[in-house]
Amino acid sequence: MSPFAGRRIVLGVTGGIAAYKAVEICRRLVEAGAHVTPVLTEAARRFVGEVTFSALAGERARLSLFEDEDPIPHITLGRRAELILVCPATARAIGAYAAGLCDDLLGATLLATRAPVVVCPAMHTEMWEHPATGDNLRRLTERGVTVVAPEEGPLAGGDVGAGRLAAPESILATAAEALAASGAAAGSMAGLRVLVTAGGTREPIDPVRFVGNRSSGKQGYALAVEAAARGAKVTLVATVQRPLPESVGPESVDLVLVETAEEMRTALADRLPADVVLMAAAVADYRPAAAVPEKMKKTGEPLTVTLEPNPDILAELGRSGSVGTLVGFAAETSDVLANAEAKLRTKGADLIVVNDVSAPRSGFDHDTNAVTILAAAGDRTTIPLAAKRDVARAILDRVTALRASR
Ligand code: CTP
Repeated sequence: MSPFAGRRIVLGVTGGIAAYKAVEICRRLVEAGAHVTPVLTEAARRFVGEVTFSALAGERARLSLFEDEDPIPHITLGRRAELILVCPATARAIGAYAAGLCDDLLGATLLATRAPVVVCPAMHTEMWEHPATGDNLRRLTERGVTVVAPEEGPLAGGDVGAGRLAAPESILATAAEALAASGAAAGSMAGLRVLVTAGGTREPIDPVRFVGNRSSGKQGYALAVEAAARGAKVTLVATVQRPLPESVGPESVDLVLVETAEEMRTALADRLPADVVLMAAAVADYRPAAAVPEKMKKTGEPLTVTLEPNPDILAELGRSGSVGTLVGFAAETSDVLANAEAKLRTKGADLIVVNDVSAPRSGFDHDTNAVTILAAAGDRTTIPLAAKRDVARAILDRVTALRASR
């Protein structure tokens, strides 16, 4: 069966001469059984009329955020799409997408979607080689967008060089791969009870001060959102409140806010047994032995705060036998893999996800992460620097593979 049969694809066409080639892509997608909604930018319409796309797609080409029957066309299109294919993508369209600009229907749809996005650049060599274009494409790939690199060949105006739209075969093959990858993941955790922890615990010294750490909770939230997208019933026990995407309703992610390690431990214990526990939280190893009930006043003298050890929640879960698949995390700054190996052994986890928090753009508060997943069985998977949502995908793929192998 065709990989496109019955799939809902938004075909974004932007304003370059290669827009005429998008007509062929549209035709071939429709022939392969896809439901294609063409979305044309203003500039695209100067190259190819919308009637051409509407006739081929059998569906009205969409042109505007404001002159549409649907009052929120970008949200409807973004939610319904299983894939967005931007073909051709001009340097302007790539820059706008990288910057998150949504001043037209295509830009807004790209921001509103959770579907995979494939971008096919086409432009003159000078523009393709400009550092701004390279920077913008890097930002997009870091966020998980797939780029079909252009080829060398004849360009508009009789020039020859890099920047010519990739061949339809490679565009369609990449689109099919992106659809297959997202389709395989969807529903792969259906019915599983998943507990995720996120953020750094705060251990009070007095009513206004605490012992804490630099964890932002972003990786834990990304795991919760991705597990929910795969059909899991997720409880997210977090120390920080962050926005959850609209696609994630309260019925798929139950958010429980806690502050201290002790509260996190209780919140988890109350919700066991679980099929999967992902301990992404940075749990403070120590807490002040006694929190002072009123704000401490400065005396000008040195202050000693006695800290006592917190329970090791992950190790307790490892011993409890009430977790199907237990995933621990390790934030390290030196001897990264050796320390992670030791944690894998001592904590009873099935997987340890380790990151070097001193590496650039990795770990605390960044939107990107680079990790290695160590399995108790001995294998290692390295995920190079990627958006935290993509790192979450890789971790959950590994969890699913591990569960399937048992
Ligand atoms: N963890 C936990 N309870 C603690 C400390 C850590 O459950 N009191 C969990 C974290 O959520 C993480 C894993 O254990 O999944 C490893 O955390 P990390 O801080 O890297 O390791 P520690 O065990 O605290 O060891 P160290 O600080 O000595 O590196």
